[in-house]
Amino acid sequence: MTARINPSILTADFANLEHELDRIATADLVHVDIMDNHFVPNLTFGQRMVESLQRVSPLPLDVHLMIDDPDRWAPGYAEVGAFSVTFHAEAAADPVAIARRLRQIGARAGIAVKPGTDIRPYLELLPEFDQVLVMTVEPGFGGQSFMESTMPKLGLLREAVSASGLDVWLQVDGGITEQTITIAAEAGADTFVAGSSVYNVGEPASQIAALRAAAAA
Ligand code: DX5
Ligand code: ZN
Repeated sequence: MTARINPSILTADFANLEHELDRIATADLVHVDIMDNHFVPNLTFGQRMVESLQRVSPLPLDVHLMIDDPDRWAPGYAEVGAFSVTFHAEAAADPVAIARRLRQIGARAGIAVKPGTDIRPYLELLPEFDQVLVMTVEPGFGGQSFMESTMPKLGLLREAVSASGLDVWLQVDGGITEQTITIAAEAGADTFVAGSSVYNVGEPASQIAALRAAAAA
């Protein structure tokens, strides 16, 4: 299984984002965290920022919406050119309708679950999605510790994806380091979001290479 490494720019220097994107050009996608200070107790940026990033990014944008009412707001992120748009199950009134709209616009559709959210009710919806994000920390902040207690969800997802024959990417986000990436890969993840371990430890390019190697080990 090929591991995808998606650095999160949440930990990057917001005043120099074009430069920060260039530093991660050897990654697979750029993870862009949208927070609204309602769904999570933190605030980042919105659709116009994604539109601007899209123009200068060497990599496709993987947008993670940590916002209320994705039914209303998610399609706008696809419209400005996000490669994938992932919204939270806990915040969505009609997840299938959102996913269909995202795909219709031309983006990959993703659904995310917080650490305490049961994944089982969503397994039957897998055909509607291109990726599933299992949060491995409580969403809202970078730099938190990986919660190994979330790993059984990946096992269930990997089993369901294999049984279905679908090509659904299984993503983890939060506390991913050279150590924890191995645990998540073994549990069934194939797409890894990493913020602090890419931007706060040495050079991003060598960190990306190290994470890739650890995921494959
Ligand atoms: C947290 C965000 C993450 C965050 C991960 O709510 O969704 O994408 O950037 O940061 P680290 O890798 O530092 O845990
Ligand atoms: Zn994220």
